[in-house]
Amino acid sequence: MSEQNLTIALSKGRIFDETLPLLAAAGIEPVEDPEQSRKLIIGTNHADIRLVIVRASDVPTYVRYGAADFGIAGRDVLIENGGEGLYQPLDLQIAKCRMMVAVPQGFDYAAASQPGCRLRIATKYPDITAEHFAAKGVHVDIIKLYGSMELAPLVGLSDAIVDLVSTGNTLKANGLEAVEHVVDISSRLVVNKAALKTKHALLEPIIQAFGSAAKAGGAFI
Ligand code: ATP
Ligand code: PRP
Repeated sequence: MSEQNLTIALSKGRIFDETLPLLAAAGIEPVEDPEQSRKLIIGTNHADIRLVIVRASDVPTYVRYGAADFGIAGRDVLIENGGEGLYQPLDLQIAKCRMMVAVPQGFDYAAASQPGCRLRIATKYPDITAEHFAAKGVHVDIIKLYGSMELAPLVGLSDAIVDLVSTGNTLKANGLEAVEHVVDISSRLVVNKAALKTKHALLEPIIQAFGSAAKAGGAFI
């Protein structure tokens, strides 16, 4: 009997919900629902496997430092906050959305985003935004926000936003429209590189099970 154990970092909400079927495919069932509990460490039906519930943007940090052996993180988080030092074997094709530039309906974005123009952009993703507009030759003043980006152009904080869009309902409800694609987003399995070696026997079947369960839309990368 192995004395090793596994810690899996997940965020509450859509990633947790969409990861449940993958965990089930690997035979792992949480004993509690993080939405119903204030606990940050949740046991599973395996005594040696536990879940830690962290902010979505903190998942790579927990895994990088080995506080969790693996986790699931959005590509937005991995590009913006850095996926270096992490093994990323699988695109799970969950929590799919698009990062877009959006503006108030009727705003002449084509004219305002000519090379040499200057735009004020509110976003949670300043690095991705800076790179996107630098490639277009458009100067941007970036205002970092932590949420509710859609509000910024409505109250004069910015001309535009760079945010995630799925159904488009949030933009529509706030009189905004998506005008430019930045990058497609889905969530990836991120694994601690040392754990991959030292806990290979425990990790490998789980990675394989996740890969098969996600096969319809997932891909080893
Ligand atoms: P934090 O709590 O750290 O601010 P968050 O609020 O972005 O993070 P979630 O809303 O749970 O956390 O999003 C987790 C991940 O899900 C994001 O990093 C992104 O990859 C993806 N995501 C975000 N919004 C959507 C959406 N509307 N549809 C599908 N996937 C999304
Ligand atoms: C995300 C994103 C948008 C919304 C887009 O927010 O920041 O506001 O989803 O989804 P839609 O196109 O389907 O409307 P989220 O639901 O994660 O809220 P939060 O950023 O406040 O956590």
